[in-house]
Amino acid sequence: MTIRHFLKLADFSADELNHMLDRALWIKSQQKAGTPYEPFRGKVLAMIFEKASTRTRVSFEAGFYQLGGNVIHLTSQGSQLGRSESIEDTARVISRMVDLVMIRTFGQDRIEAFSRYSKVPVINGLTDEYHPVQIMTDIMTFMEHRGSIKGKRVAWVGDANNMSYSWLEAAKILGFHLSLAIPEGYELDTSLIPEGTDYYTVTRDPIEACKDADLVTTDVWTSMGFEEENAKRMADFADYQVNARVMAAAKPDALFMHCLPAHRGEEVTAEVIDGPQSVVWDEAENRLHAQKGIMEFCLLGKV
Ligand code: CP
Ligand code: NVA
Repeated sequence: MTIRHFLKLADFSADELNHMLDRALWIKSQQKAGTPYEPFRGKVLAMIFEKASTRTRVSFEAGFYQLGGNVIHLTSQGSQLGRSESIEDTARVISRMVDLVMIRTFGQDRIEAFSRYSKVPVINGLTDEYHPVQIMTDIMTFMEHRGSIKGKRVAWVGDANNMSYSWLEAAKILGFHLSLAIPEGYELDTSLIPEGTDYYTVTRDPIEACKDADLVTTDVWTSMGFEEENAKRMADFADYQVNARVMAAAKPDALFMHCLPAHRGEEVTAEVIDGPQSVVWDEAENRLHAQKGIMEFCLLGKV
């Protein structure tokens, strides 16, 4: 059987992504009903973190335990990766011992190198280029609140980062429109944009991007790995804040999402993130559930 890694959304069809989302909703309903679902009994997940995490760490670990399995947590500093053992050798060794691997790292090339040498499926828990498990979570959260995302308008306010590229891939595959407001100097890398021009628009103006949006979303001004640019980014992103004025451009019932961690007063105001349109806590919880649908697909296929 060919291994299906979950490295980026573009590797999957709409049918497959929708299947994972439907399974995530079903597995969540089982948990809420108190019905145990433990298909991962006897299985082991290894998680490798080369960047910090709260949600990804807890949701993958708790989720895998809840599905009956066991988890090993590694960091680059606490393993031989921090002493320059190659990613390829690390993959060869770890994948002989466990059933599934989740990696959070820097370049996408690093997780791709790992997956080429891995005997077991590898899941992307965030790279510099993509954050696919978060976007699956955000779409699941949208579905719970508003139904299918197909044909809807999603607005992105912020730089061209891992979240924005995964949003672009999702828009293309699942058939919704993505409108991005991106500051000058932080533009999209065209090599990472899926083919076609009909599913997204780019502007400099957050209000224009949010016009008639069903969902408004943003992210920290400084992503992990870009900390040395922080002072410059604070100035360059000053006009890229999701506040009440920007939210007012969206549909009256538009949702607000943020992958978190958030910096109130920077990319979003407290009135928005703590306001009635915000679903960020449902979104954060859904990391637990959405990833169960993804892990089930990687380990057991289309159940
Ligand atoms: N949203 C997200 O991935 O959060 P963590 O960095 O806390 O894992
Ligand atoms: N774009 C952010 C997401 C954090 C979950 C980062 O890469 O730091």
